[in-house]
Amino acid sequence: MRLDRILANSGCGSRSEIRKMIRSGQVSLDQRLITDPGYLVNDPESAKLMIRNQPVEIRQYLHMMLNKPAGLITAMRDKKDNSIAELLPAMFLEKKVSPVGRLDRDATGLLILTNDGTLSHRLASPRWSVGKIYDVTVKGDPFSDKDIQLFAEGMQLPDGYTCKPARLEVIDKTRALLEIHEGKFHQVKRMMLKTGREVTKLHRVSLGPLALDPDLKPGDYRHLSQQETRALYQAVSLTEMISKKNTDQF
Ligand code: URA
Repeated sequence: MRLDRILANSGCGSRSEIRKMIRSGQVSLDQRLITDPGYLVNDPESAKLMIRNQPVEIRQYLHMMLNKPAGLITAMRDKKDNSIAELLPAMFLEKKVSPVGRLDRDATGLLILTNDGTLSHRLASPRWSVGKIYDVTVKGDPFSDKDIQLFAEGMQLPDGYTCKPARLEVIDKTRALLEIHEGKFHQVKRMMLKTGREVTKLHRVSLGPLALDPDLKPGDYRHLSQQETRALYQAVSLTEMISKKNTDQF
């Protein structure tokens, strides 16, 4: 695998930052300086990689954040509809990277993608109660303190489902941040509808410990940094598997 790709997969920076680091002689492989970002590493699992003399933890899995634009469905394969797959390199499909939970076609914002099935399952499962914050704009009556209470109490939806308590933070009359700890189908829209309001804009700003990177334009994605990856695993009581061979050598 290419050296720049291994480092990007391991959360060492953006592809362009990594290329710069390699070209400027900050990266060594098996104690040899490598200045070609495209250098092919035969056995990444056992390679001794260092950046500025610090060992690199080579990641086993891929984890990304995407700023989902409106108009695309959250799926990696869809014959009929345009999906987020068209924003991502084909390599992600080959590596079985898939989104954690879903955002509706018209919804925007933070989507986490990973090929660690256990991590994905726990992040999406209500059992792990990972908070998701949405910036919601609605059509309808101005928000009031009564609404804050209604969401906090755990409202019952028309299909009989009782939502977990949610936190509503009013920004202005028709805009609020809503934090929920589950991800039922159209949940935010259905909760707002229950209060007599129609969602006109829905943007996810965070998932667990991760906030959407403000530098990511709609449609852009980036690999998670090592700190972000660690925080995500910790949020669901997991420890990230790192190539042991690589770290044990130091
Ligand atoms: N709730 C919704 O209604 N839609 C989304 O896309 C996410 C949460």
